[in-house]
Amino acid sequence: MSLRINKSEFKTGEKKVVKNGDTEILVIYLGGSSFYAVNNKCPHLGCKLDKTGVVIREELVCQCHFTHFSLKTGEPRRGATRRPLPIYKVIDKGDEIEIET
Ligand code: FES
Repeated sequence: MSLRINKSEFKTGEKKVVKNGDTEILVIYLGGSSFYAVNNKCPHLGCKLDKTGVVIREELVCQCHFTHFSLKTGEPRRGATRRPLPIYKVIDKGDEIEIET
């Protein structure tokens, strides 16, 4: 399955939650063609990353226990868990992005 979202809904640095059934996907826009989509639930203890996540370069830091996740791979680079953050492939479709779920 996939979700389509209009790029014009995002300003640089903005993040928004989109729903895919019961799953919340956090979409992050870092400017240019850099869109990322990750699961909104931290794999450590479940904090909601739209509230607790801060983007530093290409890492998303969950401020509940300061785990740093790569936005590109979901890999935890340091912090409280070794569990990866589920990420979703984002495909550029011109005025829209498509998120593969
Ligand atoms: S819940 Fe995110 S690091 Fe603990």
